Amino acid sequence: MKILQQLNDIKATRALIKEWHQAGYSIGFVPTMGYLHEGHQSLITRAAAENDKVIVSVFVNPLQFGPEEDYGSYPRDLKGDQQRAAQAGADLLFAPTVAQMYPEGFETFVTAYGVTDKLEGATRPGHFRGVTTVVAKLFNILQPQRAYFGQKDAQQVAVIRQMVRDLNMPVTIIPCPIIREADGLAKSSRNTYLTAAEYQAALSLSQSLKLAETLIQTDNIVAVEQLKKAMTACFSSIPLARIDYIKIVDPISLEELAVITDSCLILLAVYIGKTRLIDNLLIEGRGYTKKEE
Ligand code: PAF
Repeated sequence: MKILQQLNDIKATRALIKEWHQAGYSIGFVPTMGYLHEGHQSLITRAAAENDKVIVSVFVNPLQFGPEEDYGSYPRDLKGDQQRAAQAGADLLFAPTVAQMYPEGFETFVTAYGVTDKLEGATRPGHFRGVTTVVAKLFNILQPQRAYFGQKDAQQVAVIRQMVRDLNMPVTIIPCPIIREADGLAKSSRNTYLTAAEYQAALSLSQSLKLAETLIQTDNIVAVEQLKKAMTACFSSIPLARIDYIKIVDPISLEELAVITDSCLILLAVYIGKTRLIDNLLIEGRGYTKKEE
């Protein structure tokens, strides 16, 4: 196992990165809010395979939480994160404090428009402004060549890509597949909030996505309303579940579709008790025939 360095001081971190750049090392970066699980570890492992050095950031970013959201209770375990990051092949854990990232007088924000005003952006106003601001700062501090993001936050990947493109940031964004439990539940730090009964209810997210996949690929159903109705029915017998949204969109523009003619991205956000979970499934196009409903 590599020796994992841990730094929170921005100046010291930048000095180390300068040394790495001078030595000609490529740097892969995995931004996280900590409480690392196998999903994060899969990003770190991939970054370690593709770069000389891997940095993992652990920072629960207050800017991306709404006033009613779980910033205060978000799970934190820096010691466990050190172990898991090291196991997966990280070289540096960057874990700054809020005061270091947002010192007194901090007043500059990065906002991406368009791609942020739907889906998560519609339910969580200000969320993506917090994400783009912190990720831009982390890119500036850590100067990676490549940054790895989980496809579970599919809209976040699209937003970060737009920011990088629009602001000419010299970093390649690498989306990585969703990692699931054996029963299908997408790995998430927020799964720790679930009681045993809620966990069972949460399985309905991936089950509804699987159902949609079967309806599209086996039954050739392409009418989005019909698919959404079938997915919604998966939750009707689960009192612990409350659907926030189910959307079927173009995977690039994230614009909602009426009929599936090629690839599509199916996304959903569902409250299980008080915990809001998201999940999604990309269906690769195979030239579906349009079926009039
Ligand atoms: O996906 C996350 O954990 C966060 O949104 C990120 C990218 C680390 C920014 O705080």
